[in-house]
Order: sequence, then C-alpha cells, then structure tokens
Amino acid sequence: MVLQQVDIGSEFYEQAEEILAERIAARKKELEEKLLILCHHYQQEAVYRFADMTGDSLKLAKHAASCNDKPYIVFCGVHFMAESADILTGDDQAVILPDLRAGCPMADMATLDDVSWAWKELEEASGAGRIIPVTYINSSAAIKAFVGEQGGSVCTSSNAERVLTWALERGEKVFFFPDEHLGRNSAIALGIKPEEIILWKRDEHLGGNSAEAIKQAKVILWDGYCTVHMQFAAAHVREWRAKDPEVRIIVHPECRHEVVAGSDQYGSTQNIIKAVSGSPPGSKWAVGTEINLVNRLARLNPDKEIHSLSPFQCLCSTMYRIKPKYLLWVLDNLVQGEVKNQITVDPETAKLAKIALDRMLEI
Ligand code: 13P
Ligand code: SF4
Repeated sequence: MVLQQVDIGSEFYEQAEEILAERIAARKKELEEKLLILCHHYQQEAVYRFADMTGDSLKLAKHAASCNDKPYIVFCGVHFMAESADILTGDDQAVILPDLRAGCPMADMATLDDVSWAWKELEEASGAGRIIPVTYINSSAAIKAFVGEQGGSVCTSSNAERVLTWALERGEKVFFFPDEHLGRNSAIALGIKPEEIILWKRDEHLGGNSAEAIKQAKVILWDGYCTVHMQFAAAHVREWRAKDPEVRIIVHPECRHEVVAGSDQYGSTQNIIKAVSGSPPGSKWAVGTEINLVNRLARLNPDKEIHSLSPFQCLCSTMYRIKPKYLLWVLDNLVQGEVKNQITVDPETAKLAKIALDRMLEI
C-alpha cells in the first residue's frame, strides 16, 4: 500500500546529517517520558541508533503489546508493522510511521478482495474439510481481520512452524499467505511432502490447480514473495561453498527453498543475529538477508568474517525511506503537540485482526 507522504519542507531536506542527529537526540530527550522509538533490524544506522528497542517483527509486536505507558510510539519499520502495533496498543496511544511510503511489496501482493475470492473457490473445491488460514505478519490489517474471522492465526518468521503445526491440528488444510517461500520452507521443515504443498496463483481459476490437486493438498501457498530475499540464489550458495569450505551460510526463510536447503541454518532476523553473534571468534559467515543487517553484524563482530551471501546490495528500499529527516519531522511535530503520520486501523478491522494476532501470541 502506497500512502501519500506530505512534503516535509526544505528545513529538513537541507540539513546536514550531524545536525539532524543532534536535533533528533534533543527532541528525543524532550519527549522522553512520552516516547518509544521501535526499530526493525533492517533499518539504516542513522535511524537505528535512536531506537529504544530493536527487534524482528515478533519481538517488536510483543513489545508494542506490553508497552502501555508511552502515548507516542514511533515505528521505524514498514506499514504493516505499524498497523500491528496500533492494533496491539491502547486507544490512548498513537503509532507513527515517519514516512508513509514505507510499505512492504510482499504485503501488497495479497489484497482482501483477492484472498476472499480465493477462499471462496478453495472452500468449494476442497469439499467438506476444514481449511485454516494463516497469514504472515507481513500483511495488511484487513487480511489479518479476515484470518481472525475465519478461525486462523498470524505468524512471523520466528514462529511459522509452530503456527503451521497449530493450524494442521485444527483443520485438514492450511491456506498460507502472502509469502510462498516462508510457507514452503516451514511446511517442508515439518515433514510435509512436497506433493502435498500446492501454489495458488493469484490470477488463475482455482489458483491454477485442478479440484483434485486441491483435495489432496495439505498446504496451499499464495504466490507472494519478498523482492529483497528473492535476490539470493542457489548459485550464490554454491559459489561460497567452492570459495571457502569453512564459511557457514545462514539465510532468512523468505528465501527460495533451494537457497534454504543449501544453507547451514535459517531463521528470522533475531535468530540470525543470535547465531552469528554467538559464534566463536574467527567464524566465517555468508548471510542471506537485508544488507543493513548484514553490515551491522559485520561491524559489531570484528572478530568474525561476515559477508552478504549475494555479491549485490540487497536493500529493503521501502524500509530505507525512514530517513533521519522524517524521524526529526515527526518528533519536531510531537514536541509542538502535533501527531503526524499516525497509523490507525478502524475499530471493526482492529477487533478481528487482534483475534488473529492474539492467537499467534498464545501459540
Ligand atoms: P523478521 O520477522 O525476521 O524480522 O522479518 C521481517 C521481514 O520483513 C523480513 O523481510
Ligand atoms: Fe517486505 Fe521484504 Fe522489505 Fe521485509 S524485506 S519489509 S518482506 S520487502
């Protein structure tokens, strides 16, 4: 979803980085009692340094849910993360996204209309068996509400296997969206056979499947993907193996299955940080995730050799829109009592989406 971002004006555009940093620090101090800054691990350093709490999607969602003493939560992530935070926080708290153009292309690949239509077709084709919907947290509030209403759950890259197990205990099939790759990697890790996993192609009748294939399937995957993690290829894994047999390869589960299968380990951003930071001095790593996180790992672990798995810079360009000047702009306005770029989910959607988010937090 691309929202309109107002022009913040030359006062912010023309400032040098050091001046912006000084002004952000001063505003943060002024707002101390009232403000919480949350930052996802893919955030650029110039913003990340001002975080009160950093984390992966699960950690940040849990933190937003448990923080009820701060009226202003500035979320330096992307739109779906700020929406989840708004759903999980109180009515007296405002969640703010410094640049409204910070969306997630993967989340935009599953619209409510498309998913509802697919759900209807799927229910008709699959016969009487119960289907449980599972949505990755990288989805709109409207999609989470749909899932809440249909008895399903949200998942993140930290708990997708656990949520999938929960869903398969309750239904005959799972409809998993929007990320094909997280869904496939998690299903295969649980021992589900590749022939029991089918792909639902958005623009085709029955998602491009026969009614028989749908009846046989255990897991039906939406054909969404992350534009950043799709840049990692099995060839990169082979090249690293040939170049340095000592290198350990760790990737995010949004990568294609062939990349995950060729790696030594995979996990959410939080788990990647834990594995790399906890490894002995001298360890060598090739990391398949967003470049800001890989560069930070390399800087914070000078006793290890840390590289990107890909020779190209895999940047989440939408997350990158949260620049220091936008952070300063929202903080300047907060000091003057003005809330800019508040992310609000309408109460009916929020109520249903919260059911799906709470289920995940309980599982
Ligand atoms: P994590 O939950 O691992 O932080 O992933 C979020 C995300 O958007 C990765 O692309
Ligand atoms: Fe979305 Fe991929 Fe960016 Fe994560 S890295 S926010 S999935 S585009």
